[in-house]
Amino acid sequence: MGKKIFSGVQPTGNLHLGNYIGAIKNFVDLQNQKGNECVYCVVDLHAITTKQDPKILKNNIRETTAAFLASGIDPKKSIIFNQSLVAAHSEGSWILGCIARMGWLNRMTQFKEKAGKDKEKASVGLYIYPVLMTADILLYDSTHVPVGEDQKQHLELARDIAQKFNLDFDSPDFLRAPEPLIQKNFSRIMSLKDGTNKMSKSDPSDLSRINLTDNKDQIVNKIKKAKTDNDPLPDDNKNLSKRPEVENLLGIYSSLSDQSLKNSINEFSGKNFSQFKEKLTEIVVEKISPISIEINKLLKDIDYIDTVLKEGGKRADLIASKKVLEMKKLIGF
Ligand code: TYM
Repeated sequence: MGKKIFSGVQPTGNLHLGNYIGAIKNFVDLQNQKGNECVYCVVDLHAITTKQDPKILKNNIRETTAAFLASGIDPKKSIIFNQSLVAAHSEGSWILGCIARMGWLNRMTQFKEKAGKDKEKASVGLYIYPVLMTADILLYDSTHVPVGEDQKQHLELARDIAQKFNLDFDSPDFLRAPEPLIQKNFSRIMSLKDGTNKMSKSDPSDLSRINLTDNKDQIVNKIKKAKTDNDPLPDDNKNLSKRPEVENLLGIYSSLSDQSLKNSINEFSGKNFSQFKEKLTEIVVEKISPISIEINKLLKDIDYIDTVLKEGGKRADLIASKKVLEMKKLIGF
């Protein structure tokens, strides 16, 4: 039987190689497997948990959509839309917020990281963000959710909320507990400058990440400057975890060339970093440059992007609003 897939990406600018390898690349693979039904969402309601400039946000929603399309997500096969078009996400989120417990949300590490030291100044939205994410997933009866490692805890929460709702309203299996789909080895792409930090949109150094909008020269330059160490490339993966930068670059190479980490280690054992970086640059340019060119092309046709979102929004709304209606009946509304 096919899988029901849901996943989302925030339109906060600077989509990077981590988003691509950890998430978007898998969105495309899952879309192209027979029998799967996929819903891919530009989660603009999540974006406003931190302050956004309206003009930039609008632009980022289109750019993220363009990145989906340019990477190979096909609006004929998958539903592509932005979250704020479908009111059921907000409504479902309120209902599920009354199911989730404070204690569960207090454990969310991403809130702690994002709120930083001054929690009192973080928005309430940032705190309840994992509940909105739960609504996103549960409203589509999703069976599988492709994400990077950093979203794993939010998915465990989604499972807990689904189970508690079913229990509270004596409706076994009504909300489906989703399974995370996390790529082994490649679920946490690290900064090119520091292998102990995640590659991130918010890193002040642009050299830390490869953006999906980078051109060939930028990619070449960033890989050239990427941190390595003084030892030769490894023969096996025994001590790799002590060499985070090398592990990360080998992971990027493996993922983009669709081979196992072990194969890449064998391919480069005994070679020097300049030989490896040359091959790595080749594969990153081969995979990312066409996406970057296509994003820029698509952004010249805003009407097309807006039409894709609007049509996707209509299809999403049919599914999500029906589920919310069923939830309301169970609750007694
Ligand atoms: P976001 O927008 O931060 O990231 C989008 C996706 O990219 C993955 N990712 C990474 N994977 C590997 N290495 C990295 N360095 C890296 N950085 C980001 C993320 O894990 C994610 O899969 N809360 C989500 C968006 C969301 C969502 C959902 C996801 C909202 N509703 C429902 C799944 C289902 C987020 O902020 O992702």
